[in-house]
Amino acid sequence: MNPSISKQHRFFTRTLMRWHMHSNNRVMPWKFEKDPYKIWLSEIILQQTRVAQGTAYYNRFIKKYPAIEKLAKAKEAEVFKLWEGLGYYSRCRNLMATATLIHEKYKNVFPSTYKEILSLKGVGPYTAAAIASFGFDLPYAVVDGNVMRVLSRFFGIFTPIDTTLGKKTFNELAQLLLDPKQPAQYNQAIMDFGATVCKPQSPLCNQCPLSQNCLAFKKKSVDILPKKSKKIIVKQRFFNYFLLEVGSFILIKPRTHKDIWKGLHEFLLSETSSQVSTKDAMKKLSEEIGLSDKKTIEVSKLYKQKLTHQEITARFIRVQLDAIPSELSSFFVQKKQLKKIAFPKIITEYLEEAIFINT
Ligand code: ADE
Repeated sequence: MNPSISKQHRFFTRTLMRWHMHSNNRVMPWKFEKDPYKIWLSEIILQQTRVAQGTAYYNRFIKKYPAIEKLAKAKEAEVFKLWEGLGYYSRCRNLMATATLIHEKYKNVFPSTYKEILSLKGVGPYTAAAIASFGFDLPYAVVDGNVMRVLSRFFGIFTPIDTTLGKKTFNELAQLLLDPKQPAQYNQAIMDFGATVCKPQSPLCNQCPLSQNCLAFKKKSVDILPKKSKKIIVKQRFFNYFLLEVGSFILIKPRTHKDIWKGLHEFLLSETSSQVSTKDAMKKLSEEIGLSDKKTIEVSKLYKQKLTHQEITARFIRVQLDAIPSELSSFFVQKKQLKKIAFPKIITEYLEEAIFINT
């Protein structure tokens, strides 16, 4: 027996597993799944997405691409369109790269060692532990926000979770607590427990089977755990999107910047450091691309999107041109094609409400 495992550790694992067997009634389509492809897909979708939102995407992906070979052979634009609305599009690019690698290098057989799984694009230690344990019953403990919250509270750990020491502390403790005989069950148990009982807000302490030995509960520090060292600084960005229209044609461009929207499309963008008037935005457009025969036909309300590190305020300005400028002709598409193209969420929201597209 490992001498560093104390009575408190044993109580935690035993009680958690009992809760999982008798009281965990969380239903999710990937639960008890053994196909590593489906587990991998669910975990990539859930990396920055809540279960409630991710479930519909997971079901649509599995229906369209029931095996990794199908995903590997799919058209990039089609996969992006199916991902549209989930955000953090690097996940989608990595998904396609990994599907291609498994198809080509591993002949559609998902790699089965932790090291190989961890080497896949888009797969970090958390996702690798989830795939290794759920798909192959390997003894790797998952450590995500849920897990760190549960452990920080039960063991009364005040080390900030976003520091090197915090990460080391929680990783080691999680591995010590893992039931090595049932790693898949244990990992599912702790994640579901964090999501349904030891929740970030309003945790259900009076129904919690662990509360009698929970240090945070005893010391009334449930609400202040887990600790974080850094405050996230949110950058404000202002996007003026110009919809350059010529009859039934409109300009859209692929986003080539190395950022979260790479691979998606957008209208002509002029970013400003503060909210500017339509007149000033038009002036900037003239300076940037110098089109002469243009007429503003509609200015939208402001749309907002909050991301972890930035808040976007966007406005859409419809501009009518007399003719397609030759230097931009390759970017013009028929308006009716817009429905097939993947856009950032803020643009999709505008397009859903834009009358000129929907009539
Ligand atoms: N979040 C990420 N993966 C999960 C899983 N397998 N079960 C529950 N919540 C999750």
